[in-house]
Amino acid sequence: MKISIIGAGNVGSLAAMRIVADGLGDVLLIDVVKGLALGKALDLEDARPILKIDYNISGSEDINDIQGSDIVVITAGLARKPGMTREELISKNANILKGISLNLKKISPAAIVIVVTNPLDLMTYLVFKLTGFKSSKVFGMGPSLDSSRFANLISQELKLPGSDINALVIGIHGEGMLPLIKLTTVKGVSLDKLIGEKKIEELVKRTVARGAEIVAASGSAFFAPSAAIAEMVRAIVKDEKKVLGACVYLNGEYGMKDIYLGTTCCLGKSGIEKVIQLELTLKEKEKLAASAKEVSQLLKQLPLN
Ligand code: NAI
Ligand code: 2OP
Repeated sequence: MKISIIGAGNVGSLAAMRIVADGLGDVLLIDVVKGLALGKALDLEDARPILKIDYNISGSEDINDIQGSDIVVITAGLARKPGMTREELISKNANILKGISLNLKKISPAAIVIVVTNPLDLMTYLVFKLTGFKSSKVFGMGPSLDSSRFANLISQELKLPGSDINALVIGIHGEGMLPLIKLTTVKGVSLDKLIGEKKIEELVKRTVARGAEIVAASGSAFFAPSAAIAEMVRAIVKDEKKVLGACVYLNGEYGMKDIYLGTTCCLGKSGIEKVIQLELTLKEKEKLAASAKEVSQLLKQLPLN
């Protein structure tokens, strides 16, 4: 398996480390900054004797080297600064991803593409449109990270291990994300049977603000994001048919068409094998529709031609 990661910054390089250490395939890091990807690859290579795993890792500035990739992860672009929303990154990151998409189409047309760059729902749509790849092969990482953040905060509240919590956050990877309370369960028991309404509201607020909280405290989130990327890569490489949250193309689900938003899906060796429409309450449907409207408005800002 050849896994290329475009963008050897915080998220990309940590994802590379997790992927090689888990033995999921050979990793190629690409970055426009001279020497950056190569240096990180050399550093990662030096860990092999300590870890006792003979993985292959390489680094390059030349996008042509992604030829023959089975999976391409896009982490290239600007990250937000304290006080910024993800949407404020649109124009700069859209131009970067336009260039990458056109290259992907030419150089590595068989790849499955995992988009990470923000604003996620818009950037994933852009990559889908500009590569012309099947929607099952272009999707974004975000909802699984948001769900993990929600699960972590619930586990702290209930003083239970995070693995006991099955949290679900769908919708936009942004301020309008939609934590699903009834479908979030602890050992099969719905969250609203275990925690009062006020406390749930507080946990939801903290989940939505978690990315910004981390950005304000330390500049950027990359440990949990890289774990979420590796989870997706593993599901593809091992054909796990894993049910998880992702930013996927909606083609009628929730009554929406031609838009990328987060929902649950089944991920395996051919990419998104199933998009799952969840049972939502009326209030949740309204909130999802509002997010879709917001995303649709912003799509107009994308350089789609
Ligand atoms: P970073 O600034 O550490 O790394 C980005 C890298 O992209 C830089 O090294 C830069 O040189 C490189 N780059 C820029 N243009 C490029 C091009 N055309 N080709 C190759 N490389 C290029 O940023 P970080 O923290 O790694 O974040 C990357 C992106 O991921 C940001 O947009 C951030 O908002 C997003 N992100 C998304 C998450 C999600 O859940 N979807 C979670 C965390 C970050
Ligand atoms: C996050 O949620 C910035 O999208 C990034 O941490």
